[in-house]
Amino acid sequence: MLSSYVCSDPNTSRVCVVMVGLPARGKSLMSQKIVRYLKWRSISAKAFNIGNYRRKANAHPSADFFALSNDEGASLRRLAAQEALNDLVSWMDKEGGRVAIYDGTNSTKRRRAWIAEQLSQHNIHPLFIESACENDEIILNNIMDVKTTSPDYKGVDPQTAAKDFINRIEVYRKDYESISSSEMISYLKIIDAGAQVVVNKVKSYLESHIVYYLMNLHIKPRRLWLSRHGESEYNVLGLLGGNSNLSERGMMYAEKLPELVANAVGDQPLTVWTSTLKRTQQTASKLPYQQIQWKALDELDAGVCDGLTYEEIQQKYPEDFAARDENKFEYRYKGGESYRDVVTRLDPIIMELERQENILIVTHQAVLRCIYAYYMDVPQEQSPWMNVPLHTLICLEPRAYGTIETRISANIPAVSTFRAKGELPQHQEPDGQNA
Ligand code: ATP
Ligand code: F6P
Repeated sequence: MLSSYVCSDPNTSRVCVVMVGLPARGKSLMSQKIVRYLKWRSISAKAFNIGNYRRKANAHPSADFFALSNDEGASLRRLAAQEALNDLVSWMDKEGGRVAIYDGTNSTKRRRAWIAEQLSQHNIHPLFIESACENDEIILNNIMDVKTTSPDYKGVDPQTAAKDFINRIEVYRKDYESISSSEMISYLKIIDAGAQVVVNKVKSYLESHIVYYLMNLHIKPRRLWLSRHGESEYNVLGLLGGNSNLSERGMMYAEKLPELVANAVGDQPLTVWTSTLKRTQQTASKLPYQQIQWKALDELDAGVCDGLTYEEIQQKYPEDFAARDENKFEYRYKGGESYRDVVTRLDPIIMELERQENILIVTHQAVLRCIYAYYMDVPQEQSPWMNVPLHTLICLEPRAYGTIETRISANIPAVSTFRAKGELPQHQEPDGQNA
């Protein structure tokens, strides 16, 4: 019985997200995004792309290779599916994987029943995600965007590749069976890139969170702008946290930001998000766009260390200072927060960012590192140590596979607030004098 696949303990349950859909429906892109998002949320996740296994047997197949009536093709594809599933299960069993993504077309009821049966033997719950899209413009865009450069078409000119890929879709379509509720499985069906969604039998917290994340995605082009607040009075003194005003140089950055943003953004609409602290709002105060304040964008709370310098923390709380260096992502200030806590409170921000188009976020060092880590897939051990300079506008432009980054310096000097692991900060005035 399919109902016996459900694991009830939310902390130990293992989920296999099974992608379903014709070629060029965004399955691999969604797989990669789920993995990146879950890893950012400290949940071990990995994608297994059946196409990569199939390519070992046939690297450049013609369209008819994918017909169910092609015995040789069907058998090689079954083998690839089995191999990928074996590796997936082995990763979960041996490496403690929590969410695996089984990325393929998985386009027949028979194939899905086989997957569910295999997974049930290992107490892994399948969550099927179908992308159903019949919008020709989207599909043609997808083909030109990512498929003509696929390893399947190495050395083939883009027009020939696109034509063959369209044939491949038609061959798949002959045997394709959209998921129906009679299959008795947990599923999310995303129709026409999110214009409509259908959710069926999704129960566990983890699965509903994955579903909620996918429901927020859209495929319109967008850019995210990130900036730290201008240099603050506390920054100049080397003090952490607080709610101080901008320094003179910080105000200069606030004055220059509208020009910097206008040059970079052009006449596209923009919404500005700040924290609830004075320094981000002062930084954004000259920007001629709608502004929204989020408590979730406030700086990491340094608890008892708020208002101290790093040197003072090292003297007053030497063990804490060392513990933070040892594991900066996990270390929680007494009465304050850890980077992990910040990531947790940023979850709704990421969900909302995925729903939006062009947003400029003016926030703080630690918060910016966490948001940046989500987009750029920076591992947890590194993200709290990233050097993000003041008075710099960062543009992130998510593309099908990867995010393009541009940095624009305002050329207004500022102190460095960066402290490398095991060191005290090089807290210097920009002209080289000690602050
Ligand atoms: P294949 O079966 O050949 O591996 P695929 O379904 O994995 O194809 P992707 O390689 O992920 O397709 O296609 C990426 C393209 O799909 C991108 O251009 C992206 O904008 C687009 N895309 C992302 N999500 C969706 C969606 N829900 N519906 C349609 N297209 C989407
Ligand atoms: O120094 C500026 C600041 O925003 C502080 O308010 C905050 O405590 C600190 O950066 C966060 O950076 P780190 O985690 O490297 O100490």
